[in-house]
Amino acid sequence: MKQYEIRTHVNVLNWEEMSEMERELIQRAKQATESSYSPYSHFQVGAALRLQNGEIIVGSNQENAAYPVGCCAERTALFWCGANRPGARITHIAIAAQTQGHFTEDPIAPCGMCRQALLEVEHHQRGSIKVLLYGEDGTHCVDSVKALMPLTFNADCLEIEKDTE
Ligand code: THU
Repeated sequence: MKQYEIRTHVNVLNWEEMSEMERELIQRAKQATESSYSPYSHFQVGAALRLQNGEIIVGSNQENAAYPVGCCAERTALFWCGANRPGARITHIAIAAQTQGHFTEDPIAPCGMCRQALLEVEHHQRGSIKVLLYGEDGTHCVDSVKALMPLTFNADCLEIEKDTE
């Protein structure tokens, strides 16, 4: 039997250990929770994307009475970005969540669907997106989306062999 191991490094940083840019991005993700439409879960999520040119784009979760129709904060931000800033390179994403008037002590991590959506961008732009997961007890930082979702399915998997094209 062959075996291999996949490791993910997570740095847990306090406020002082982050750069000014990272702190600002987290603040924007926290602010974005205010625009969450979450009458069903009462779980307000905010996501902030930083583009290479410094622009910040935010999104929040948008729920629906038909539950599966709702969209997470991450994809709300990501798809807005794709539609309005096509081709822009995303360098970072920060995510924060609050419920019952308090930001979560432990960070929340993007759901599998959002990881796949983020991975599409990371793969397409051929550059990693740094992930900052905010929690009151510390921000968990991971160097790429791929680190959160190894053994990925991406466009390369669909490639048709050259001689059959
Ligand atoms: N949610 C997000 O927006 N992002 C996540 O990373 C996890 C979950 C939303 C979906 C739903 O509106 C609410 O949080 C509860 O699951």
